Amino acid sequence: MEIKNICCIGAGYVGGPSMAVIALKCPNIQVNVVDVNQTRIDRWNEKDLNKLPIYEPGLDNIISKCRGENLHFSCEVEKNISKADMIYISVNTPTKTEGLGAGQAIDLKWVEASARKISEFANGQTIVVEKSTLPVKTAQTIQEILNCSNKKKNNTKTFHVLSNPEFLAEGTAINDLLHPDRVLIGGNNEQAIQSLCEIYSNWIDKSKIITTNLWSAELSKLIANAFLAQRVSSINSVTAICEATGANIKDVSSAVGADKRIGKHFLNPGPGFGGSCFKKDILNLVYICNHYGLNEVSNYWQQIININHYQQKRITGLIISKLFGTISDKTIAIFGFAFKENTNDTRESPAISISLELLQEGAKLKIYDPKVSFEQIKKDLAPNNQTLSHPPKVNNWEFYNDLYDATINADAIVILNNCEEFKDLNWSKISKNMRLPSWVFDTKGFSNTTEAEKFDINIWSVGEG
Ligand code: NAD
Ligand code: UGA
Repeated sequence: MEIKNICCIGAGYVGGPSMAVIALKCPNIQVNVVDVNQTRIDRWNEKDLNKLPIYEPGLDNIISKCRGENLHFSCEVEKNISKADMIYISVNTPTKTEGLGAGQAIDLKWVEASARKISEFANGQTIVVEKSTLPVKTAQTIQEILNCSNKKKNNTKTFHVLSNPEFLAEGTAINDLLHPDRVLIGGNNEQAIQSLCEIYSNWIDKSKIITTNLWSAELSKLIANAFLAQRVSSINSVTAICEATGANIKDVSSAVGADKRIGKHFLNPGPGFGGSCFKKDILNLVYICNHYGLNEVSNYWQQIININHYQQKRITGLIISKLFGTISDKTIAIFGFAFKENTNDTRESPAISISLELLQEGAKLKIYDPKVSFEQIKKDLAPNNQTLSHPPKVNNWEFYNDLYDATINADAIVILNNCEEFKDLNWSKISKNMRLPSWVFDTKGFSNTTEAEKFDINIWSVGEG
């Protein structure tokens, strides 16, 4: 079946970039990205490309080439579903906050709502592609919902559901989409699988396109994220051992990673992993294991999250203890608020939990991040933010557009992500701004802090014993 018209439901961090790349590489396919969020769609349609709703290196360039040609953003969900031969579901799948499975299971209400719309408004033969990360067996639920339209209205619509999980990482999304390690397609209809393979083979070597059954594809995505997060938790657990014993995490990490069987990637220490997916996907895995009575397996994966939480707590405890046990009325500069460099995404950012703890202890924060807006931080640290377990009592923080201004009268600086600007800081200038004794806490071991020592600044760098 030749695909001429794609509709993607969900114009987020995955829907936007992944459809932009399909539009770029498949000029003969019309790609319509739809969303219920009008503000987000308006920002995708902004003339000023600096105002796109998400920041990804290289995305603006593709948008400028394809938007209005074969790539369109709108809130016309029903109309675009009805025109499509292939429909991607790329909506949010957060952890449930209430009811059965709260705190672990995935809330599938946005996926179900999408499936119901497709069932009602799609025409003829439609391929439905799961792009969102989903619990194993969700394809079955989607298929059942899709089939309802035929039962109720005596239609003769045909739906084939495929699982095509996305492996892009934020900050490198465009490169990951253009040059993926693999594309995974799960399904039980050979013709539908071939149609999707043909789209990707416009720019990806066929040897990198893996096809499996539906359940293997759905599960592989969860397991890939769990393995990546496991490496981060493993290396972070080792930072504590290094600090206790006098070893150095950078040496340990490179010595261990030099073994080809282990590999050097994802062995960088930090304040714990953030981002919208690692935690929710592992919690989902834990939930699935429990559902099947695999309690030992679920306990094993839960430990990855426990270590992540421990690392964040350990770092805040350390900051307080180095600053003589109290940070009440002390000023702390936060460098980096996004969960990683090169993104404006703050979901599950360690900066949120660490900032909250510091605020609770009475510190005043001066926050700098080149990609994150004041409005976003205001939402994340709002005293009435329902998603926080301990919202701050006061808004005792300020937003800075210049990182050096943020250090004026600061007692400490906490570096929380690998933003390029933090690599080579002017410590001479910073030391003049700070109060004595001055401290720098480099939670990523990324900055040129050995230089800082020359200016009488005390340094704590993660994993340096
Ligand atoms: P997101 O929150 O940025 O975007 C989801 C969008 O879907 C939102 O704009 C929302 O308004 C829209 N939406 C929800 N229900 C809708 C409906 N019924 N009709 C139309 N629009 C609807 O989420 P995201 O980060 O793009 O993630 C989407 C999925 O992809 C998740 O399952 C996630 O686990 C997975 N994923 C994310 C990443 C990542 O880096 N963010 C990477 C791989 C996979
Ligand atoms: C991650 C995966 O890398 C993607 O393959 C996956 O598609 C995506 O989740 C998803 O499903 O959402 P992402 O969360 O965007 O991508 O970014 P990562 O580069 O994986 O970083 C995640 C977190 O781990 C960040 O907080 C990062 O700082 C931290 N990290 C990563 C480390 O602390 N050390 C490392 O060595 C690597």
